[in-house]
Amino acid sequence: MKILVINGPNLNMLGIREPSLYGSGTYDALCEKIHKYCNEKNIEVTFYQSNHEGCLVDRIQAAYSDGTDGIVINPGAYTHTSIALLDAVKSVCIPTVEVHISKVEEREEFRQISYIRLACVATITGKGFDGYLEAVDTLLERNV
Ligand code: DQA
Repeated sequence: MKILVINGPNLNMLGIREPSLYGSGTYDALCEKIHKYCNEKNIEVTFYQSNHEGCLVDRIQAAYSDGTDGIVINPGAYTHTSIALLDAVKSVCIPTVEVHISKVEEREEFRQISYIRLACVATITGKGFDGYLEAVDTLLERNV
């Protein structure tokens, strides 16, 4: 099984940005944690992070032909604005799980909209870095 983990804008700033919301772990630490977890489960995992909406769309489209079986995505603020990301996930028809480190449903009004959720098989929020591992498990369960 091959999983692609996509992180959107400002998630490269993990460990620096708002640690009270997102914790003190860095983006590299997040990738290492997911990588270790996937290794234990014999899952091939690749990572992609960009601050640019079009680059995120390009990477989702590339997943269509690179053998990706499942996508874990934290689109960051593009969650709340991007119909382009929603359409990209719909286009490739690859099971996708939406993850948010913070509990978005308890935050500002503008964070209550998620466009990408309409194309996702599950949403995990407020579980910190562990939410990504839960997303991997969700994809794994679907593939068994
Ligand atoms: C986030 C929540 C978003 O609202 C925010 O813009 C982010 C991070 C999260 O992981 O909790 O960048 O997706």
